[in-house]
Amino acid sequence: MLARSSFRNSKRFFGTRMVPKQTQLFIGGEWVNSANGDTFETINPYTEEPITSVQRASVEDVDRAVDAARNAFDHGPWRRMSGTERGDLLFKLAELIKKNGEELAHLEALDNGKPITLAKIVDVSNSYLTYKYYAGFANKFVGDTISAPGDFHAYTRKEPVGVAAQIIPWNVPMLMQAWKLAPALAAGCTVVMKTAEQTPLSALRVGELIKEAGFPDGVVNILSGFGEDAGAHLVRHPGVDKVAFTGSTEVGLDIMRNSSTSGLKRVTLELGGKSPFIICEDANIEESIQQANFSLFFNSGQVCIAASRLFVHEKIYDEFAEKSAKLASKAVLGNGLDPNTTQGPQISKEQQNKIWGYIQKGKQEGASCLTGGEEYEGKGFFVKPTVFADVQDDMTIAKEEIFGPVMQILKFSDYEDVIKRANNTDYGLGAGVITNDIGRAFHLTNGLRAGTVFVNCYDIFDPTLPFGGYKNSGLGRENGLEGLENYLETKTVIMSRPEGSLP
Ligand code: NAI
Ligand code: MG
Repeated sequence: MLARSSFRNSKRFFGTRMVPKQTQLFIGGEWVNSANGDTFETINPYTEEPITSVQRASVEDVDRAVDAARNAFDHGPWRRMSGTERGDLLFKLAELIKKNGEELAHLEALDNGKPITLAKIVDVSNSYLTYKYYAGFANKFVGDTISAPGDFHAYTRKEPVGVAAQIIPWNVPMLMQAWKLAPALAAGCTVVMKTAEQTPLSALRVGELIKEAGFPDGVVNILSGFGEDAGAHLVRHPGVDKVAFTGSTEVGLDIMRNSSTSGLKRVTLELGGKSPFIICEDANIEESIQQANFSLFFNSGQVCIAASRLFVHEKIYDEFAEKSAKLASKAVLGNGLDPNTTQGPQISKEQQNKIWGYIQKGKQEGASCLTGGEEYEGKGFFVKPTVFADVQDDMTIAKEEIFGPVMQILKFSDYEDVIKRANNTDYGLGAGVITNDIGRAFHLTNGLRAGTVFVNCYDIFDPTLPFGGYKNSGLGRENGLEGLENYLETKTVIMSRPEGSLP
């Protein structure tokens, strides 16, 4: 738990000294204003008031940033550094993140609205671990020596893909920045990152730490800006070799199309989900309720892998539903900077309205609302934690990603049937199972079509664990060795051997 004193310290961030210092664009190692002088306000979702104005990247700024990244890749010292040297810089960055963790967590709570305890554990700590993990990889990836037929010797080299365009969302801003930056830098790529327009602040502070760590100019460029102009232009840019994106499936599909208008870019996508969580009849009800609550309400439900379809066995259904509603209603809604808060506001008015629309749909289509389900009166983009029971597979709330604190409880009786129902979606990001029956665990785990399956747990994230989606939930995996390979090309070198030399 967070000490009271750190909450008092948080007041530092409210008055004049508390306004985040860095609001410019980070291009070519310099902090600069946007080419056309445009700025935008970033809003505190708890007060609904602006925190500060930041520079808004225009297409011209995207061009400048891509040029800087291109130049750093093609001509700078970065490509000439050893993996050990690149790793050292990443280790330095990890330590700076740790050292400035309090401040970074405050920035995240302010800009995103999430509870500061969560910002510390999830955003800051996991980011630190991610930079450290990939720092270790920087001098450990190797090619193969291949015994080719005939008088040839062959080997493979792993080379960086080049300039990576990275576009991140607002729900876990610092961690999404780390998941993208760390493997790209370990591989030796250079980066232009566009952050989400709702949450530019923590990334800018990390930009300052990148400069402090001593990365060469232009290796990392960070742009605050919007998707429709800066994001779209970045994705189409001919100077970009690879695009990595986390966000909505709709924009992911656009990026797939747009990225290929100027050549074949490498693309990885981490998109939406409608993840099923199957609670079997032998499950311990009290523990399952806790797990299910966490799997959905964590981060105000703004999680791509949120378990938003709970399939509960008919034998325990009624008790599970009633107790889940009771637990959900205990959430403490409030200011993210208050350590007693367990649920912060949604990120924006737009998201609040969207979620409210789903709640109304749920009622209209006949689901039983056991708790919540009323509009939040008062300041802040809050949505009351809402639990729907008697949810049927064809209801809108059982099919579409809500991205908010709205739980759907469905009933099942047959295990073959529940696998079919769970898989009956265009998404395939996550899934979960709660059972003590090992045979049932294998059967369900292997039958579920999802990139991550949790058994008797949920929402366990770590840089060692590959993460990504089947079907419309994405393309490729982040984290683990696979996360690094997204940023590497394989070059096969075949050399003629003198006749008569040993094969
Ligand atoms: P979004 O997909 O529009 O935004 C994510 C990022 O993409 C932001 O940085 C945005 O500026 C950028 N972007 C938007 N349009 C772009 C374009 N045409 N080209 C390049 N970049 C573009 O998501 P949004 O509008 O913030 O949220 C809408 C829904 O998306 C949410 O309700 C949720 O369902 C889903 N979402 C999923 C996330 C995930 O972690 N998978 C994260 C955020 C949203
Ligand atoms: Mg959008």
